[in-house]
Amino acid sequence: MNTFNITLSSKIGIIGSGAMGSGIAQVAATEGNEVLVYDNNEGALIKAEANLKSGLLKLVDKQKITQDKCDAIIKNIKFVSALETFSECNLIIEAIVENLDVKKKVFTNLEAIVCENCVLASNTSSLSITSIASACKFPERVIGIHFFNPATLMPLVEIIPGIATDERLAELCKTLILEWKKVPVICKDTPGFIVNRIARPYYGEAMRIVEEGIADIATVDWAMKTIGGFKMGPFELTDLIGHDVNYVVTETVWKEFYYDQRFKPSLLQKRLVEAGFLGKKTGRGFYNYKEGVVQPSSDENTEKGKLIFDRIIAMLINEAYDALNLKVASEEDIDLAMTKGVNYPKGLIAWSKEIGLENVFSTLQNLYDNYKEDRYRPNILLKKKRLSF
Ligand SMILES: NC(=O)c1ccc[n+]([C@@H]2O[C@H](COP(=O)([O-])OP(=O)(O)OC[C@H]3O[C@@H](n4cnc5c(N)ncnc54)[C@H](O)[C@@H]3O)[C@@H](O)[C@H]2O)c1
Repeated sequence: MNTFNITLSSKIGIIGSGAMGSGIAQVAATEGNEVLVYDNNEGALIKAEANLKSGLLKLVDKQKITQDKCDAIIKNIKFVSALETFSECNLIIEAIVENLDVKKKVFTNLEAIVCENCVLASNTSSLSITSIASACKFPERVIGIHFFNPATLMPLVEIIPGIATDERLAELCKTLILEWKKVPVICKDTPGFIVNRIARPYYGEAMRIVEEGIADIATVDWAMKTIGGFKMGPFELTDLIGHDVNYVVTETVWKEFYYDQRFKPSLLQKRLVEAGFLGKKTGRGFYNYKEGVVQPSSDENTEKGKLIFDRIIAMLINEAYDALNLKVASEEDIDLAMTKGVNYPKGLIAWSKEIGLENVFSTLQNLYDNYKEDRYRPNILLKKKRLSF
């Protein structure tokens, strides 16, 4: 039986020095782990090292960390250009391109280098951990450890055992993630895990409302912020995430759920991607960010705003109950995930009790009766629980 040793004294290997790999390396090194970072692109590695140092110096300037702490973090991280240096690592977190074949190849190569007790983790957002693990001789040592962007700031980490993962591993990872001062949640290896599955209607239903001409983008954003208390409206948020990224996640979750209508992507967003209107990063998405452009104003009609909010929140809650019903995660972890991973003002299960399960159910049932679309079917657990309230 393997003895996994993943503690603050373990050597951690990170593969991929991009946004996520660099952030995860900083998190581990800050808490005292020795970290090796590898990337197959020499230029990316040099850039990552320079960015890490300048980012840490900024934290010193802002007095968020001391110069000594900055030096200690830098000393803990080594940027390396050969994967063979990972032979002494106890835990390796892969954060490379989101491509199943490439990830499988990297995991196969890793197994030939590391010792048999080394844990191999993937930071994948959307691929099956079980499928990645299938490339390994010892799939029991493979697990998902999914950070959110930026990893240094976002507290949530989803821990995802695959079906062949050693049953002790999730708890061991949880302990380490807590030592890294993050908030771990454990979830089943299902498409989108917790956050990227449950959050889909925040974007999808908002786009449907706009496609149908029920309200415009500014009004939907206004309603979700003012009435719902969300930090950003769905259109501002997808513009920030980037439509290329957000659309692909939706499409992947939809396909992985065998084309369930609940996750169907929006043509409105597809056209934005086709046009190269990817959001803030390209200067145009739902909004136009060019200097001097007057932004659309919202129709601040409270009655309309309430209808928009009720519809989107009911769809989100329905998704949270579906995840709960299918044992994707515990009720506590589902609520933690949405508040700590995507900054929702409240956990969705707790919110459902505040709004009233009967009210949520009747919003969904009305939508279902009107549209006769499977997309709006109320979840069976929500249906049952409303009776016991
Ligand atoms: N960016 C996000 O918001 C986010 C959030 C959570 C999880 N993720 C996941 O994290 C992973 C990395 O995402 P990212 O945004 O950091 O990507 P990124 O493009 O910023 O960085 C990926 C890095 O991996 C390197 N790389 C690619 N193939 C490699 C290989 N075979 N061997 C070694 N290095 C290789 C690239 O050179 C690049 O530097 C993906 O699986 C992604 O789905 C991303």
